Amino acid sequence: MSENFFKTSAEAPSTPFDVSLRPPLFSEFAGQEKVCQRLELMVEAAKQREDVLDHILLSGPPGLGKTTLAHILATAMGGNIKNTSGPMIEKAGDLAGLLTTLERGDLLFIDEIHRLQPAIEEYLYPAMEDFKLDIIIDQGPNARSVRLNLPKFTLVGATTRAGMLSSPLRSRFGMNCRLDYYTADELQRIILRSAGLIDVDIDDAGAFEVAARARGTPRIANNLLRWVRDYAQVRADNKVSRDVADAALTMLDIDADGLDEMDKRILEAMVHRFEGGPVGLNSLAVAIGEDAGTLEDVNEPYLIMQGYLKRTPQGRVALAPTYRKLGMAEPKRSGELF
Ligand SMILES: Nc1ncnc2c1ncn2[C@@H]1O[C@H](COP(=O)(O)OP(=O)(O)OP(=O)(O)O)[C@@H](O)[C@H]1O
Ligand SMILES: [Mg+2]
Repeated sequence: MSENFFKTSAEAPSTPFDVSLRPPLFSEFAGQEKVCQRLELMVEAAKQREDVLDHILLSGPPGLGKTTLAHILATAMGGNIKNTSGPMIEKAGDLAGLLTTLERGDLLFIDEIHRLQPAIEEYLYPAMEDFKLDIIIDQGPNARSVRLNLPKFTLVGATTRAGMLSSPLRSRFGMNCRLDYYTADELQRIILRSAGLIDVDIDDAGAFEVAARARGTPRIANNLLRWVRDYAQVRADNKVSRDVADAALTMLDIDADGLDEMDKRILEAMVHRFEGGPVGLNSLAVAIGEDAGTLEDVNEPYLIMQGYLKRTPQGRVALAPTYRKLGMAEPKRSGELF
């Protein structure tokens, strides 16, 4: 099993388990209150005016609910949703094929929108702004540009790397929502809801234990719940208490703070191989045998949010909690003595 099994890369397909746990309505979507309030208000306003929703960009680390929110928006508006992703649109023709099958009010969801090719982006601008698409048909001397009128649609883009989006593209979204990691209380609610759906007998304390170790991420919480269910089935009479959850997660090498083997390897490499940093992303990735992109998108944001690491212009630097986690005293740095 890969060590990132319980995390997600943007490429990870959703399993049937995931799909069935996706909340279909705002009222069942826990957390992200500000984002939900804004989106619900937009939906209400658009419906009152019998208009179409403005284009929306959803950004944030993997597994926080971007795809889920896109589907909730489509349901709330009563329109259809078409799903695609940045790397899947290879030619302008692919984009034209998608856009021309939309109906008024439909939602086009482009996942990993930061991976769109620049040439495709250019086609997208007039489609987003004026609902027009200029395509070139034929080749050579017969080549000519044809302008197609598109129905008024809503583009919902999702990205784990808002910073990689070009500014012309970013500025064409009327609403830009950033999702943040969830609190343990929010994740506990998500776990209890999921447990009800997949029929797991878990008490509040058991759910909280899983929540506290799920790295602020609903997808991880659901994956851990599935593991805890298996564990309870074989070892604990199908009942998940706090102790059962703890034993199950300990067996996965997930510690009390939710850090797993890969996280610990990162912290150890930072301290033992790079003397606490600063160290560049690529050197760190090579040292731990992980892809730099995965490290940056998946592991690092949580470690930074929890205060283990910080990013500086010179590279990553280990902070006090890293030394504490490894049972070491934090070295005094010369710059900090005065
Ligand atoms: N607020 C929430 N309430 C309940 N469940 C949630 C919530 N957010 C996410 N989930 C659950 O977590 C899973 C992952 O969410 P989702 O696929 O929407 O994440 P994502 O942000 O699109 O991730 P990625 O960047 O990897 O595509 C969903 O299947 C859903 O079951
Ligand atoms: Mg997604």
